Amino acid sequence: MNKANNLPVALVTGGARGLGFAIGAHLVHAGYRVILADRDGEAATCAATELGAFAQGLTLDVTSESGVESALDAVEAEHGLPWLLVNNAALMKAQPVLDIDIETFDAVMSVNARGTFLCSQRFARRLRGLDQGGRIVNIGSLAGQNGGSATGAHYAASKGAVHTLTKVFARDLAPYGITVNAIAPGPLDLPSVAETIGEDAAARIAQALPTGRMGDPTTIARMVVELARPDAGSLTGATIDINCGLYMR
Ligand SMILES: NC(=O)c1ccc[n+]([C@@H]2O[C@H](COP(=O)([O-])OP(=O)(O)OC[C@H]3O[C@@H](n4cnc5c(N)ncnc54)[C@H](O)[C@@H]3O)[C@@H](O)[C@H]2O)c1
Repeated sequence: MNKANNLPVALVTGGARGLGFAIGAHLVHAGYRVILADRDGEAATCAATELGAFAQGLTLDVTSESGVESALDAVEAEHGLPWLLVNNAALMKAQPVLDIDIETFDAVMSVNARGTFLCSQRFARRLRGLDQGGRIVNIGSLAGQNGGSATGAHYAASKGAVHTLTKVFARDLAPYGITVNAIAPGPLDLPSVAETIGEDAAARIAQALPTGRMGDPTTIARMVVELARPDAGSLTGATIDINCGLYMR
């Protein structure tokens, strides 16, 4: 809870733009104090300004152990521990498997898998002794379920790791009242898609979707709000598919 005014606090990684920003906006609307934490702290602060007085930006590199601890220290000192962590920060690179250099493989795995692990573990360690519960929502991907190749083997493998981490953390944190769920979006109507795979490929993907159009980021953001509800304590370990009907399991 927020120390000053009892608002629940949400920390959204990669919140400076795209889906993280949309999630932040919905959380503010739902009554949260939102921390948009991003490697690009300046962009996060600008983004927070757009969301008004109940949002603020924070510089955070999710791959850095000391960075994660300092960010949690800062949030805890100012607002109290967050109720909700949204692991949204990610790197997407479109490369055929035979062209991926090992530095890029490591960078993608580091942000997407290590970052999710690190933020979740350090957040949960702090919540553990408080007996107040909490919520973790991981943003996975359809690519982590079906091996989608458009965004590359490193991205797909890292999102597969996110889905598996979701299950392990859900089981281990359940006794503390901390739920852990993932959302696995298909292609979304966001700038990152065309930036990653190009305008033409993005248009072809949109046409090939059963719905004929890219997914709406607000649908994902609304799901985050639902998963974060205090009365959703029995919903844990799930991966929610929001993929325009592209993949049904
Ligand atoms: N865009 C899509 O179609 C799509 C589909 C499925 C899943 N997703 C997932 O949704 C999430 C958001 O995607 P997006 O399209 O908004 O991406 P984006 O690239 O627009 O935004 C990602 C944000 O993460 C930040 N970031 C990168 N590395 C970081 C680090 N080390 N520490 C902290 N912040 C870091 C970036 O600065 C950026 O603000 C990601 O997890 C992505 O994998 C996106």
